[in-house]
Amino acid sequence: MTPLLKARGLKKRFGGNEAVKDVSFDVNEGECVVLAGDNGAGKSTVIKMISGVYVPTAGEVFFNDQLLTGQSPNAVRQSGIETIYQDLALADNLDPGLNLYLGREATRRIFGISFVARRAMRERAQEVLEGLGIVIPDPSAPVRDLSGGQRQAIAIARAIHWKAKLVIMDEPTAALGVPEQREVMALIERLKSQGVGIILISHNLPDIFAAGDRIIVLARGVVAGERKPSETNDEEIVRMMMGATL
Ligand SMILES: Nc1ncnc2c1ncn2[C@@H]1O[C@H](COP(=O)(O)OP(=O)(O)OP(=O)(O)O)[C@@H](O)[C@H]1O
Ligand SMILES: [Mg+2]
Repeated sequence: MTPLLKARGLKKRFGGNEAVKDVSFDVNEGECVVLAGDNGAGKSTVIKMISGVYVPTAGEVFFNDQLLTGQSPNAVRQSGIETIYQDLALADNLDPGLNLYLGREATRRIFGISFVARRAMRERAQEVLEGLGIVIPDPSAPVRDLSGGQRQAIAIARAIHWKAKLVIMDEPTAALGVPEQREVMALIERLKSQGVGIILISHNLPDIFAAGDRIIVLARGVVAGERKPSETNDEEIVRMMMGATL
């Protein structure tokens, strides 16, 4: 089986700071790869090189064997990779339906989005959210009025709706309450069961062990080690994060 995503020799320099020195890993279909590591280890920089936000100083990213490096974030998204951030993913002033279509349908119309299109999007959004067991009390309210977990759920619903093949989540549960964290973790399982590949960045050891099929530990810009959850434990992962020997 060829991997869904291949990252090879990624390097990113910011001025004199080599934030990412040499990072390579694969993600397979239906697999959740966790990127773990201490603050500043280079996790977010790695995923930004995948999602098109940063151009790597060196190295390549292949998605379904196609070279992805150098493409814009929009082009990366169109090719089937959704990146979900805790706070930046949604447009606060729009309702969930419009958020679901953000950057797609909405850009086509010259005079803004027609009333009919808005209603259709809202209805479709409700269907998608209900299908995922997500209840939004008032679907016409702007998403700024929603909880962190509901916002996260809408971002994930968007990935499902547009049939993303790879979903990247940077600290998706960091600011959530416990029930919302569970909701997000359940959605991750659902995406996996549909064959979607996941890259999950998390500091939360229980989440790392529950969701991860493989744990890749970054320390100071390099891969300090890679483990299956069944082959390791909290202590070893923490030791690897601190840059200790494998
Ligand atoms: N845009 C930038 N310009 C300059 N330096 C940056 C930039 N982005 C990140 N860095 C630096 O690169 C290093 C890695 O940062 P990165 O955000 O990738 O870490 P991280 O592993 O995501 O950490 P955290 O767990 O705190 O989110 C840090 O030293 C950081 O200061
Ligand atoms: Mg980060």
